[in-house]
This record gives sequence, structure tokens and C-alpha cells, in this order.
Amino acid sequence: MSNEMQGFNKEAIDKKIGLELTKQHPWRNKFHLEMPFGLINDPNGLCFNEGLYHIFMQWNPWGCEHKHKCWAHVQTRDFVHYKRPELALWPADAWDKDGCYSGSAWVQEGNVQVAYTGNVKYEDGRRGSFQRLGRLLPDGTVQREKLLIAAPPPGYTAHFRDPYYFKKEDREYLLLAGQTEGLQGRVLLYGKGAGGWEFLGPVKTGLADFGYMWECPNLLQFAEGDLLLFCPQGLPEEPYRFQNLYQSGYLWGSLQLNPPAFEAAGDFTELDQGFDFYAPQAFAQGERNILIGWAGMPEKEAEYPTREWGWMHALTLPRQLSLREGRLYQEPLQELEALRGPSVTFAEAAAVPVVVKLNRAQEVQLEVQLGPNTVQVELALAFGAEKLVLVYDRKQQLMTLDRRQMHLGGQGLRRFKLQVDDRLKLHFFVDATLVEFFFQDGAKAATVALFPEEAVPPVLTVAAEGGRVVGTSWSLGSFIYEG
Ligand code: FRU
Repeated sequence: MSNEMQGFNKEAIDKKIGLELTKQHPWRNKFHLEMPFGLINDPNGLCFNEGLYHIFMQWNPWGCEHKHKCWAHVQTRDFVHYKRPELALWPADAWDKDGCYSGSAWVQEGNVQVAYTGNVKYEDGRRGSFQRLGRLLPDGTVQREKLLIAAPPPGYTAHFRDPYYFKKEDREYLLLAGQTEGLQGRVLLYGKGAGGWEFLGPVKTGLADFGYMWECPNLLQFAEGDLLLFCPQGLPEEPYRFQNLYQSGYLWGSLQLNPPAFEAAGDFTELDQGFDFYAPQAFAQGERNILIGWAGMPEKEAEYPTREWGWMHALTLPRQLSLREGRLYQEPLQELEALRGPSVTFAEAAAVPVVVKLNRAQEVQLEVQLGPNTVQVELALAFGAEKLVLVYDRKQQLMTLDRRQMHLGGQGLRRFKLQVDDRLKLHFFVDATLVEFFFQDGAKAATVALFPEEAVPPVLTVAAEGGRVVGTSWSLGSFIYEG
């Protein structure tokens, strides 16, 4: 075992989490999950067992680099109170010595079972990808059980990872992220049989040439049909789509298992129109389908200046997914309403900008009622001299997010189509370094990371010639870490 591997001492790392969590910094988010040191990325192993939600995430406790990936773990009964995060799984043997990569979880006979990818880099430059089974123990560690899949199927490269478990018609399945030897991204389907996990084939979609790798596949089963989520890499940017380095989105339709095929009812649709959203994971809890994303982007480390303070990235709020008239809607989980403190309501003509003072942790729900002559709505969130600006162009049905007036971190523009008749509806959450927007009752969402230089409370302005704005704004409390 190398020295690095010996360095994973759960007790010492958990103790450090306890200490670091109590430290204050204006860039510490209050109601978004993050780790107080190191780098996090994908949410992993989301599941619900005996009244508790389990949320794991990719975590490098050693620094703000994409290395030494472990799984951190938090539990919550209500998405407001959390058990203090702990280290649950870390590189420990020849099948995962270079990282315990992403995976999923499910409940079996009262136990939380996880499937994850053991990542191995050999000296000759080759990569090994082992799909492994584990079980969460009462001491907070994931105990390794057997190897599920030892190698990628013939015709596919070693970019073979992120097992996502689901059950359909009483059989157990895994979806895997894959790449053909011709460098095309694919989702691969395995089914559990008497002799182990059997490769059923790539899931045939209409997207034969759609990026060089598809990461983090997920499947949700709604009464109305299936949702296949994945994260394609290598798509060319378009004016109103695919503006991030890597994308996260879904196909909506019906999954056929044998041979695997997805009959999609529409195009691949992005889940989030912001700058900072990737590798989401979704799971079903009873009738609800819940999704959490990584509020970050790979290979853009310079855009996240908390790096200089020793930690990086956060997870998005948990979002409930629902399908209405063939469209996917995302809304913040209702449980988050328990964070609400004092509120202010406003109802004013918006020809002259309406000004609403906010706190550093805030939720705002508003509606801009457009008049016959309203052509544009402009919203700004100002942090002292810095600003995030949203402009809605009614004629083009186009929303622009403009981060160019922020001084630190990522900047730039994101543009997307948004259908609005005469009421622009916006629901958003402002935390220390994140703003999450939900447009038109969740028809679109956008996650934006911001790093205001000064720890000043933000000011919202809304302007719409001939329009009127009505809304409510709440100060929000913080997540509570117990134990
Ligand atoms: C997505 C991803 C996954 C991989 C993990 C490693 O962000 O690249 O495909 O399992 O991150 O941290």
C-alpha cells in the first residue's frame, strides 16, 4: 500500500470535519451542502432508508484538485437537519487505489447497498475501471463486498463508470457510463442474472454521434414514462444550448430492456441553464423523484476562488421532479420551506426599478406581470459594486444570465429560450456563493456560482416598462449539523 493510501484515517478526517465546520467565512454557504475542506463533485448514493435520506458525494479531503476521490456522507431526516458529514469510503486496495468514483445506492433488507467505480491508473498509462458493491455499516463506513463487473464490455474503452442501480419488472439493472472504441459516448445496460451481471448492450438512442463520453447515467420511472439522464461531453456549443464545457440533460420516453433501446419523445434537453451544474443524481422516494446536482463544472477550477481558502464546490438544493403535459419541471423540495424566516411582500409598478433589500441567505418568489408594451424585463442582484444581471427579451422569448459584472470567479453569459405569456415567474435562492433560479414554476432552472468580494447583503432590482412586480422574499436560516 502506498503512503498516500495509508493517509486515509477516518477518525482524524472526521475530527477535522468537526473542527472546520465551526469556522466562519463569508463564502461558506448556509443552506447548500458542501465540505469545509477539500474538493467535492458529484452527488452519489442518494437513497432513503428508515426515515433517513442518505447523501454521499465525491470528495478529495487532501486538496482542491480532482484526485484521491473518496465518498463523503451526510444523512438527514428533513433536508434541514443533517448528521455531521463523515468520510465513508476511500481508496484502499488494488481495485480502487486511484479513486472511489461515482455510483448509486439502494436499500436491500434494511441495508444501504452502494455500487461505485474503482478507478486504477497503471504505470503504463492504462486505466482500470472496476464496478464494485459495498454496504453502509453502522460505523459510517462502506464495507466492500464483491466485484460486480471486472472490465468494460468488448468494443468499449476503460472510460466505464458511474453504476446506477434500478429495478424494473422485478429484475435488477445497472446503467453504466461508457465510451465506444470509436470514441462515442454511450449508456450501457447490465441485468442481474443467476450467474452475475450480464451485459445486455448499449441503450440505443437516436443520438449516435453526440459527444465522446456520456457520464453519470440515471433512470427515473414515472407513471407517464421513463426519464434517462446522462452527461454528454464534447458537444459543440450552440447559441442557446450546450454553453457549458460539459452538459447534463435527459431524454424523456420509454426504456426497452431487451434489446436495450430508449424511444425518446423529444430531443435531449438540458436540466439547468446556469454556469455551474453537472453530474446530477436522482432517486425515487415513494411517489417523489428527487434530484441533486453538483453546483460546479470540471476543469474550471480557476472559476471557484474558495480554492484559495481550502475548499471547493457545493451541491445544489434537492429538487423535486415532476412531469406535466410531457414537460419536466424542477422545484425546490417543499421541506426547504422550514428554513424560512421573516418575510417581506411587495407589489409595485416596475417602470421605475423596484428595489428589494435582501439578506445573504434569501429566498424570493416573484411574478412580473407584463403589460401590452413591455418588451424587456431586467433583474439585477447587486453585491456592492458587483452584479448578476438577468435580461428577458419578450419578443425573442430569450433569457440572458450575465455574470460579467462580478469581479472574482467565473464570468460570461448564458442564454436560453424561455416561454412566457404575460407573467414571468421566478423563484430563486441566494446563498453565500450560489444562486439557484427556477423559472415558470420550474420549467427551467439555472445554477449560478458567485463570489462577491465584499460581504454585503445583496439588493434586488426589477425593471419592466409597463409591467408590475409582485412577490415575497424570505430570510432563510442555515442547515443545522448535529452530532
Ligand atoms: C463526473 C465524474 C464521474 C466520475 C467522477 C470522478 O463529474 O467524472 O464520471 O465517476 O466524476 O470524480
